[in-house]
Amino acid sequence: MTTTKHLFALILASAAVSTYGADATANWNEHCAKCHGEDGKGNTKMGKKLGIADLTDAKVQAKFTDEQAFKAMKSGVTDDKGKTTMKAIEGLSDADLKAMIPVMRALKK
Ligand code: HEC
Repeated sequence: MTTTKHLFALILASAAVSTYGADATANWNEHCAKCHGEDGKGNTKMGKKLGIADLTDAKVQAKFTDEQAFKAMKSGVTDDKGKTTMKAIEGLSDADLKAMIPVMRALKK
């Protein structure tokens, strides 16, 4: 069971790599997955703490545009009380940030 899941994840990962380039996927895993999870479900310790939405859900993905996603990465996200929930991503160029948008969109089931 676990092996099957793992294999599936590997297939998904390699599909993403060949479509969007290794860097964007690697960047997602490095900079986003600790909160959003590699699969985008937000089923991580941080994700649960912060109440992260499930990015595999089409309804969640429909809530923000690519520009808003870029802005979220560039400037961070605050909740309705103005508290920062997602910090601005540091150390990546605008091009690297933009390249992650299709990777994130591809998490949608
Ligand atoms: C510190 C944890 C954390 C990290 C790291 C993080 N996020 Fe987030 N992200 C959040 C939280 C919390 C929210 C707000 C709740 C939600 O919408 O799920 C959020 C929201 C978002 C949104 C929705 C923005 C909107 O306008 O609704 C996008 C898109 C997003 N993150 C993409 C990313 C990408 C891409 C990365 C990596 C470059 C990343 N996040 C890294 C915690 C994080």
